[in-house]
Amino acid sequence: MSTSVDFPTSQLVKRLKKVTILGALSEAQLRALAKWTKVFAFENGETVVNQGDGGNGLYLILEGAAEVRRGNRVLARLGAGQFFGEMSLFDNQPRSADVVAVRPSKLAVLSKWEFWGYAASQPEVVLRILEEMSLRLRAADQALAA
Ligand code: CMP
Repeated sequence: MSTSVDFPTSQLVKRLKKVTILGALSEAQLRALAKWTKVFAFENGETVVNQGDGGNGLYLILEGAAEVRRGNRVLARLGAGQFFGEMSLFDNQPRSADVVAVRPSKLAVLSKWEFWGYAASQPEVVLRILEEMSLRLRAADQALAA
């Protein structure tokens, strides 16, 4: 079971600063964002999201690592500073894959509603997510062609 982690805002801001999609945000903007995020700790091997479930959260990896899996296939391995769960936020479809912690991990979660409320005033964050989604699609295309 994941457990909720209480970070003082200043520590959370330091960690959020290392998340690539938040790189353009100022200290004040990160402080505002920190108020909207909840942090959870996951054990190695613990499933964070299940393929097919409804998805209402964007996950930012503060510490640890996670694998994106579909059945027996590993689609990607994501580390500290990366994110997942954006697809269901964008298209309102069920989760496209399982995501499993593969190390003890701390993840910051933004709910769909908090994310879109925040993103409206921070288009740079959305652009960074789109850039990363494009890179992931290229990698998936290459894997298909291999
Ligand atoms: P979502 O569909 O909300 O939940 C599962 C998440 O796994 C998905 O959002 C993406 O963040 C991530 N994901 C799915 N497929 C891939 C892939 N091919 N490469 C990297 N990440 C992926």
